[in-house]
Amino acid sequence: MSTAPTTHKALLSWVQSVVDLCTPDAVRWCDGSAAEYNEMANLMVDAGTFIRLNERLRPNSFFCRSSPADVARVEEFTFICSEKKEDAGPTNNWKDPKEMKETLNGFFKGCMKGRTLFVIPFSMGPIGSHISKIGIELTDSPYVVCSMHIMTRVSSKIYDLLGDNGEFVKCLHSVGAPLEAAAADTPWPCNAQNKYITHFPESNEIISFGSGYGGNALLGKKCFALRIASTLAKKEGWLAEHMLILKLTSPEKEVKYVAAAFPSACGKTNLAMLEPTVPGWKVDCIGDDIAWMKIGKDGRLYAINPEAGFFGVAPGTSMSSNPNAMRTLNANIIFTNCALTPEGDVWWEDMTKEKPAKLVDWMRRPWTPECGRKAAHPNARFAAPARQCPVIAPEWEDPSGVPISAFLFGGRRASVVPLVNEALSWNHGVFLGSIMASEMTAAAAGTVGTLRRDPFAMLPFCGYNMGDYFGHWVSMGKKSDKLPKIFYVNWFKKSPEGKWLWPGFGDNSRVLKWIFERCAGKVSAIATPIGNLPEAKDLDLTGLKGVTADDLKLLLEVDKEGWKKEIPLVKEHFAKFGTHLPKELNDELDALAARLN
Ligand code: OXD
Ligand code: MN
Repeated sequence: MSTAPTTHKALLSWVQSVVDLCTPDAVRWCDGSAAEYNEMANLMVDAGTFIRLNERLRPNSFFCRSSPADVARVEEFTFICSEKKEDAGPTNNWKDPKEMKETLNGFFKGCMKGRTLFVIPFSMGPIGSHISKIGIELTDSPYVVCSMHIMTRVSSKIYDLLGDNGEFVKCLHSVGAPLEAAAADTPWPCNAQNKYITHFPESNEIISFGSGYGGNALLGKKCFALRIASTLAKKEGWLAEHMLILKLTSPEKEVKYVAAAFPSACGKTNLAMLEPTVPGWKVDCIGDDIAWMKIGKDGRLYAINPEAGFFGVAPGTSMSSNPNAMRTLNANIIFTNCALTPEGDVWWEDMTKEKPAKLVDWMRRPWTPECGRKAAHPNARFAAPARQCPVIAPEWEDPSGVPISAFLFGGRRASVVPLVNEALSWNHGVFLGSIMASEMTAAAAGTVGTLRRDPFAMLPFCGYNMGDYFGHWVSMGKKSDKLPKIFYVNWFKKSPEGKWLWPGFGDNSRVLKWIFERCAGKVSAIATPIGNLPEAKDLDLTGLKGVTADDLKLLLEVDKEGWKKEIPLVKEHFAKFGTHLPKELNDELDALAARLN
């Protein structure tokens, strides 16, 4: 430990205790430099974990294939280990912290044998912002080191910021695959049988074992910036949310910032960097997945993006669905579980209209368009530096954050929920967030397509009792009268015949424009039992093709019967939270039922 670049006693003794338990061959204190990134990447090229992509087509970019046993977040093995089970609430897996630590100690004993332990100092949020927080991740995975370089701010400055006794979140990770002497490593070491993604909110600790993939292993993201941060936010009176942040500029150069919560793989990255089809309007990106927000001195809510990169779902991303994401991916990217072209580039479903004649798929098998299999895993991802996005807002790293004017909630709903609906009040908005539901996607292991309630898109990410989380949202509403307006959107409504009614993508700017004008007090709305809806004439549909007047009617319909059928389902959903459900939400449900009658 003599080479340690810190005198922080608690950090030094934690690292020593992990060394004693996990018995790695070496310890490396990371500094976040480009040289370090290159060294790790080259190491992985030599080990067969990374394939360097064609330098001419995709400079400084790498392709990686995980084990088929390690392809997505594992929600069933994700635990909140609070002292009291009640504090984890009905939507989380809970384990007693002492018991879990004993179990984990068993797994971690000797688990880094033959490997190097990397110490990664990182900041979530711009270094030094009053909204940012510091974490240290200890990991035995060089893939995690490179990915953390992209997704967070890894820097040796963190050691200086911490000083001798600064606070940090402890993030311990192992792929759970010790290397016996002389045993050859596999390209993607993991532990297929045992995965544990565990959180200890009372001690601000994360311990993750067995997986090297995404949110299971890059602990700054879901584990820290959402699960642990949500518990800190509750304690400290701010919000840590699964939200993108975008900047919307009108033709008159007026600016409003919008934060939007959608469940995983519902188009957050697409919306965050959308190219408006409405002439004169512009969207710039601040973040695509997570927002940390604090009320400023002026009573407005200020947001930062705690991340430094995009960990986006690749399949479906194309020049037509998200041209700005495609442009972000031109260089310096880590692609995982895509397919590999004979030219040494990546490909995934829908990336191009014409499929390549042959590929090697994400499972290393030869692939042709006729073979009937997907070439990329549906949860194949890219890790891309946010600063490369051509529409990244110049203020995306402003340590003060940006003031949010509107919150959008949404999900994939084939019926009932209209294209856009403005909440009648803060509490009505919280109610809408609390009843969010969506058809499941491949971002998490589970059955794709089934409808699940995903309140605030936080179901897999809330680090404490979701009933108390609703209460926290209600209490935030009492702190200021300058908080954002709340809207509920649904890009995924279908006709009774099963046809998508709304084109989505760039045309979502038409809805954003209406929201902007509502926030600016420039346009009226129709008050309905479910909220305020646009008049058809106020939605700018200039140049929009393929949406008929009948489609529009369905998109803006108040489906009273459908909503009436939702009432008992919402009651059932609310009942799960027992006494933790704030009274205000039951009041909103009763008020909705009364308005529908
Ligand atoms: C993500 C997710 O990776 O929500 O962002 O699953
Ligand atoms: Mn997400």
